[in-house]
Amino acid sequence: MWKAVVTAAVALALLLCQSSSLDNGLARTPPMGWLAWERFRCNVDCVDDPYNCISEHLFMQMADRLAEDGWKDAGYDHITIDDCWMSMERDDQGNLYANKTRFPNGIKKLADYVHSKGLKLGIYLDFGTHTCGGYPGSIKYLQQDAETIAGWGIDLLKMDGCYANVSDMSWGYPDMEQYMNKTGRPILFSCSWPAYAGGIKVDYSSLEKHCNMWRNYDDIQDSWDSVTGIIDWYGDNQNILAPAAGPGHWNDPDMLIVGDYSLSYEESKAQMAMWAILAAPLFMSNDLRSISAEARSILMNKEVIRISQDSLGMQGRRIIKGEDKIEVWTREIESPFLPSYAIAFLNRRADGEPYNYTVTLGDLNLFQYMGYAIEDVFTGYEYGHYDLYRELTVSIAPNGVVLLYAYPSK
Ligand SMILES: *[C@@H]1O[C@H](CO)[C@@H](O)[C@H](O)[C@H]1NC(C)=O
Ligand SMILES: *[C@@H]1O[C@H](CO)[C@@H](O)[C@H](O)[C@H]1NC(C)=O
Ligand SMILES: *[C@@H]1O[C@H](CO)[C@@H](O)[C@H](O)[C@H]1NC(C)=O
Ligand SMILES: *[C@@H]1O[C@H](CO)[C@@H](O)[C@H](O)[C@H]1NC(C)=O
Repeated sequence: MWKAVVTAAVALALLLCQSSSLDNGLARTPPMGWLAWERFRCNVDCVDDPYNCISEHLFMQMADRLAEDGWKDAGYDHITIDDCWMSMERDDQGNLYANKTRFPNGIKKLADYVHSKGLKLGIYLDFGTHTCGGYPGSIKYLQQDAETIAGWGIDLLKMDGCYANVSDMSWGYPDMEQYMNKTGRPILFSCSWPAYAGGIKVDYSSLEKHCNMWRNYDDIQDSWDSVTGIIDWYGDNQNILAPAAGPGHWNDPDMLIVGDYSLSYEESKAQMAMWAILAAPLFMSNDLRSISAEARSILMNKEVIRISQDSLGMQGRRIIKGEDKIEVWTREIESPFLPSYAIAFLNRRADGEPYNYTVTLGDLNLFQYMGYAIEDVFTGYEYGHYDLYRELTVSIAPNGVVLLYAYPSK
């Protein structure tokens, strides 16, 4: 009897869930790929810096790397253009077109190339009068621009919010979603709306209806301070943010900077682990032509990606934030009978050696009385069986993380 009730409740929850979120079939797990902005910015100097400037050449090279170096097979299947791709003016019919010096073959050809590699192409527009870089904005051209990008074969749209009033976004982003829907082409919609509206002062139920992912907070920069500032903000606002995430609709703490200049090995593992715990989209912004083997091994870690891509789609939460500068986060993971968990211990200390931290699973709100088997996700080390009261000690490197997987076991 209770089983029938539970089944009915689950069916009802699924029904409610389906009717209230964007139904374009996309982003059932957090999207993955590569995005130009953090690493390549608005570098339009193809005369002095042809190798790194925003051009079709750059995107074709990155598409080659994604397809040929195993990234696509690991799940990184989107390549996304950011700002500064457009010509400074629209054409006589008001259509957007790419800068002809830097994209001589146009975006449609680039999309064909990207598709021929089995990848998907994303592009950038801005809802306001101009893009952040001063290129043409879409506010008076939403339908026309939706048709343009669909005609090119675009698969993802990142729509920024510079030079716009926040009050206009509550109709503008939904309108854009409707216009894209009318084109008949499923286009993953990444909205910057909440980032401009103060992050938490938005109607998240409306966002879920119209966007597949959304930037909530500041742009990431190439620094550990930036990474931890983002983690703090997601922890501090988790009661609003975590319930908004789920299959088809995700909070986006911005790009992975693993493989860039600033993060150490431990910090890189920490960003990757925390983005997996947060059920975050995984868009790398780095140079895949010269990335180190070490950074690659972190970004390609199958077990961490498996946590990121878990089908329940539950965003993890910060359970402990201690005076000792150790944080513990948990994320529930799909498993056949009873819930499993990913557990991240994040060390915010900078003292010289790994910090030994002791906790019980009961302290972390894991309640399966028979206990859990515990494994280290990065090293594969098996800690053994822990009931809810047995003390577990992990040794966490400075600015580092220990990521565990706990599954119910006798
Ligand atoms: C458009 O929206 C309808 C209703 O939500 C949905 O069934 C359909 O799949 C959507 N089409 C595209 C191309 O997103
Ligand atoms: C195209 O970009 C170059 C810089 O690479 C710039 O000098 C030129 O003015 C741009 N062309 C248009 C039409 O915007
Ligand atoms: C924002 O709203 C004000 C007042 O309605 C208007 O004057 C201004 O042009 C708007 N700005 C943009 C970028 O739409
Ligand atoms: C932490 O634990 C490890 C492994 O048990 C041990 O080798 C190390 O000495 C401990 N470190 C401190 C600072 O107690």
